Amino acid sequence: NTYDFGLVGLGVMGRNFILNVADNGFTAFGNDLDEEKVNALIEEGGDSNKVNASTDAKTFVNALSTPRKIMLLVPAGKIVDVVIESLLPMLHEGDIIIDGGNSFFTDTDRRESYLKKKGINFFGAGVSGGAKGARKGPSIMPGGSREAYQHVKPIFEAVSAKYNGEPCVTYLGPKSAGNYVKMVHNGIEYGLMQLTSEIYDLLKKAGGLNNQELHQTFAEWNEGRLQSFLVEITSEILAQKDELTDGDLVDMILDKAKQKGTGKWTSQNAMDLGIPVPTIDIAVSMREISALKEERIKADKLYDRPSPETVVKGSLVAKAEKALYFAFIMAYAQGMHQLADASKEYGYELELAEIAKIWRAGCIIRARLLADITDAFKADKELPNLLLSQAFVDKVQSTVDETRELVAYGATNGIPLPGLSNSLTYFDAYTSSKLPLNLIQGQRDYFGSHTYERTDREGVFHTEWEA
Ligand code: 6PG
Repeated sequence: NTYDFGLVGLGVMGRNFILNVADNGFTAFGNDLDEEKVNALIEEGGDSNKVNASTDAKTFVNALSTPRKIMLLVPAGKIVDVVIESLLPMLHEGDIIIDGGNSFFTDTDRRESYLKKKGINFFGAGVSGGAKGARKGPSIMPGGSREAYQHVKPIFEAVSAKYNGEPCVTYLGPKSAGNYVKMVHNGIEYGLMQLTSEIYDLLKKAGGLNNQELHQTFAEWNEGRLQSFLVEITSEILAQKDELTDGDLVDMILDKAKQKGTGKWTSQNAMDLGIPVPTIDIAVSMREISALKEERIKADKLYDRPSPETVVKGSLVAKAEKALYFAFIMAYAQGMHQLADASKEYGYELELAEIAKIWRAGCIIRARLLADITDAFKADKELPNLLLSQAFVDKVQSTVDETRELVAYGATNGIPLPGLSNSLTYFDAYTSSKLPLNLIQGQRDYFGSHTYERTDREGVFHTEWEA
């Protein structure tokens, strides 16, 4: 028997992905060292001619039709290398390995060039959408050899999420383009999550909305321009009852956010590129501040904080909807800007419209806004920043005043809104034709003879500053 598709790592994601492949008429074979996971898949798969699995790597490799298409859904890091090494002696020229995890992009580049020498095609393919996405249709972000992609294309297009019938997967570019795009996807995800949490806090503290009202508010927003997976699940989370107490679950969840690194990598790499992504940066910082729970408790006792002045619910909700929309745009704008620059720097040849397109369904950052973002990059392939698209001017202009008002309210009333305020600052700075950094250039030249340029003539200047 020869199976169309192989998958190593039968955790929830792997099992769901393979069942999805089988649902779409392809035969699939799984491999995992854990016998229980192997048996669970065989049982759930039903017909072993369609879905089968083994703990034995040789049985697994021999079961696959050539060129073999083997996807790895194992934790990022050393394990990926270990699995590759164990498969390698059994593979043939032209076989394809697809890393579906959140691998760091330089690891993918290293693996790709190592495997290329051995005649094996390696893909880094970010998969977004969580367990449910893997089962029902994720967004898939593959990068690697364009020719080899033709072999996996039919399977990926069949299993991926669909937006108006269009598959949420496309060949993105060479080398680690797929993992890089997934990394920035996660950076944007961090930004949107931080912004949503701030708006939740503001509505609760300033407007006095209870969980039921918050649930309704987010549900209503999800019917409009804010429609998105994260707004939708926020509404559902706010309605969840706690099983252990009489209260609501959200109030029982500890306010310490964990992270696995992709958001931090996005920020770190943006710094390396010299591209500002302050909404993403602060989202990472806030997870770090949240982790300092014990210190926060001590510090809270040392300082006074103003008691938030209550504001009228209705108008607050309307303003918050605008501010969230404004800041969501800033998060996407920053992420897309980073992708545009990384594409040049790393030779990814990214098509930003194609990326926005495959994010419209299946992935965690799917949102109605992405249809507009797709159109903006379709209209201008070279658009450096979403804020320069005429189509976005009105969306931003009509929501910025309320954002200002809420950021000011947060500052006056001691409610931290760093994602909102960084988004606003980003906007104000990016849209300022003149910034005060002429003074910084003066200071640099003063203390270090670092030179400066002038506004009125070409060249590089240095001044012997008067002491
Ligand atoms: C996705 C997600 C996923 C990621 C989680 C957790 O697109 O399905 O981005 O890949 O692992 O969001 O990330 P953190 O643990 O860093 O929050």
